[in-house]
Amino acid sequence: MVGDRASVNGRDRLVDSGSEPDEKTVEAALRPGTLDDFVGQPRVRRQLGLVLEASKLRGRTADHVLLSGPPGLGKTTLAMIIAEEMGAPLRISSGPAIQHTGDLAAILSSLTEGEVLFLDEIHRMSRPAEEMLYMAMEDFRVDIVVGKGAGATSIPLDLPPFTLVGATTRAGLLPGPLRDRFGFTGHLEFYSVDELVSVLRRSAGLLDLDLSTEGFQEVASRSRGTPRIANRLLRRVRDWALVHGVSRIDARASSSALEMYEVDSRGLDRLDRGVLEALVKHFGGGPVGLSTLAIAVGEETETVEEVAEPYLVREGLLARTPRGRIAMPAAWEHLGLAVPEHAAFGDPAVRQALDLTEE
Ligand SMILES: Nc1ncnc2c1ncn2[C@@H]1O[C@H](COP(=O)(O)OP(=O)(O)OP(=O)(O)O)[C@@H](O)[C@H]1O
Ligand SMILES: [Mg+2]
Repeated sequence: MVGDRASVNGRDRLVDSGSEPDEKTVEAALRPGTLDDFVGQPRVRRQLGLVLEASKLRGRTADHVLLSGPPGLGKTTLAMIIAEEMGAPLRISSGPAIQHTGDLAAILSSLTEGEVLFLDEIHRMSRPAEEMLYMAMEDFRVDIVVGKGAGATSIPLDLPPFTLVGATTRAGLLPGPLRDRFGFTGHLEFYSVDELVSVLRRSAGLLDLDLSTEGFQEVASRSRGTPRIANRLLRRVRDWALVHGVSRIDARASSSALEMYEVDSRGLDRLDRGVLEALVKHFGGGPVGLSTLAIAVGEETETVEEVAEPYLVREGLLARTPRGRIAMPAAWEHLGLAVPEHAAFGDPAVRQALDLTEE
């Protein structure tokens, strides 16, 4: 699948928001265990806190919770916190692991009362399993089909009340009937630099690292609003400081370290900058077709489109238009170049007139 970074390109990318398999243990060690320790996301935290508190007061299992948002913002972390706060055991599975209704029935029928079932990537579950889940969520009941063909019978099975926590990076792909069965939906947003500084302070404490406030800010501002990236960059800064014999990490040390790993002041890496530079220097800021742009940077079109562009678009550096990609004025500025006259493409009114509006 495009977007699954392993299949997009095999390389390690320091600023990728997905997680590496060998990163799981380190991440687990840095995960906050309570809602109070969870940094940022004030709205979700407040609302979720209320949902959990109320269900504790009523002595009932909490409502089903759906968590959506881009990778690395804390969905898995929150699922674990929910179980922790409810004092309930946690069962973890994921959409891709549930392809047959039998897979789901096996999980559901072994749940204990009050257990929290975390289904990661819930949008990737198979349709029949999804339908079984509807009934389980609403009525705490499943029909288990035994046998095949004409002799098949279905045996109803009551389930103990449980809390389903679903996570998805693609809330839009979730069918309405499934979305409607969640009592609470929390959408996670990208973090501000200040929030990332708090995340980093906490992690530095756990890793026994000494950074100045400016040192933290340097790392935070290169982390693309994503705690996972912030923690990863912090570990690279730690390596750099260790090798260079630096014990107190200030802004200079943080930035030297991250320059060395080619993560720039806005969190762009070599690929991102390559795309911007090609667009600005070879094609005068565009518009240029995706495939031409990809050839210019020597990458697959999918890599440019799925790996580099989303962040460039989010940062207002690049825009996608029906006639191709264009650089926004901020792109020249970021590359330390003067914005030429025709960068008026960046002007919404001009873009509209030229029919360069977003696809
Ligand atoms: N609010 C937060 N406060 C502190 N640390 C956080 C926060 N959110 C995420 N993290 C850290 O970022 C890392 C990634 O978070 P997590 O695994 O929960 O992301 P995710 O949303 O589940 O990502 P994915 O979509 O890839 O599964 C974890 O190691 C966690 O410690
Ligand atoms: Mg996760």
